[in-house]
Amino acid sequence: VRQLLPAGVDDLDLDAAYLADLRPALATRPWVVLNMVVSVDGATTVEGRSGGLGGTADHIAFAALRSVADVILVGAATVRAERYGPPRPSQIHQAQRVARGQSPFPRLAIVSGRLDLDLDSSLFTDSPNRPYVITSQSPTDPVVALEAIRARADVIGRGEGHADVAAALEALRDDGVEVVLCEGGPTLNDQLLAGGLVDELCVTIAPLLAGGTSKRMIAGPAPAQARSMRLDRVVEDEDALLLRYVRPD
Ligand SMILES: NC(=O)c1ccc[n+]([C@@H]2O[C@H](COP(=O)([O-])OP(=O)(O)OC[C@H]3O[C@@H](n4cnc5c(N)ncnc54)[C@H](OP(=O)(O)O)[C@@H]3O)[C@@H](O)[C@H]2O)c1
Repeated sequence: VRQLLPAGVDDLDLDAAYLADLRPALATRPWVVLNMVVSVDGATTVEGRSGGLGGTADHIAFAALRSVADVILVGAATVRAERYGPPRPSQIHQAQRVARGQSPFPRLAIVSGRLDLDLDSSLFTDSPNRPYVITSQSPTDPVVALEAIRARADVIGRGEGHADVAAALEALRDDGVEVVLCEGGPTLNDQLLAGGLVDELCVTIAPLLAGGTSKRMIAGPAPAQARSMRLDRVVEDEDALLLRYVRPD
């Protein structure tokens, strides 16, 4: 693994690099990291899932970012497509978390309006901690009743019609959450962009031309304002590029 920027480093300890990055929580909401993998031509999925895109370095980055997060935020469609289970950091990452004063396991926060969630999946039945479910104040026609969800998860209801993701982040901050890692998908990411809520973008560019019609990594109506980001680090491994961008301010 080679770091190309800010300074050239051969044999970079990628895990340590992600762990050393500063992620200060704001007063009213947590620091938000968005982590995505894309092909060189911008595809976010191969055959409907992201698994075909990531290589060794991406997996290290993925695990390192999970290990620093208090909460992993994810859209319900990604939970369904990628068959999410409970996040389980390695023993070493768990020990590091405890040494930093975090719980050994990050909590998942699933954003859903329809509440089409499989409460019998390991995500809910075999998780070391309760996931959050982020939805609107009063979801209409939920596939799974809110009361059933409440039995297995902590529900954060914010917003009319759609969940208000910004308000949900404020609620997470009130719960003591300092770092949120968003793992997509593109529809959820769009709301972070629209709200000016992306503090850090970690993106792996996989050495693949995938074609297809998958969404861009942020997909939705163009925001009122495009956001500038500052390039903080460039790493290369096996022809993949791992870019870390942060907010300029
Ligand atoms: N390349 C990568 O790094 C990467 C990362 C993640 C995902 N992916 C891929 O992206 C695809 C999924 O992305 P996507 O954009 O279709 O979906 P998504 O962002 O994962 O999830 C969209 C769903 O989240 C819920 N949701 C989002 N915002 C909401 C709001 N404000 N209020 C209520 N519910 C809200 C809704 O769930 P309900 O339908 O339950 O109401 C909506 O259908 C999958 O194929 C996955 O494999 C790729």
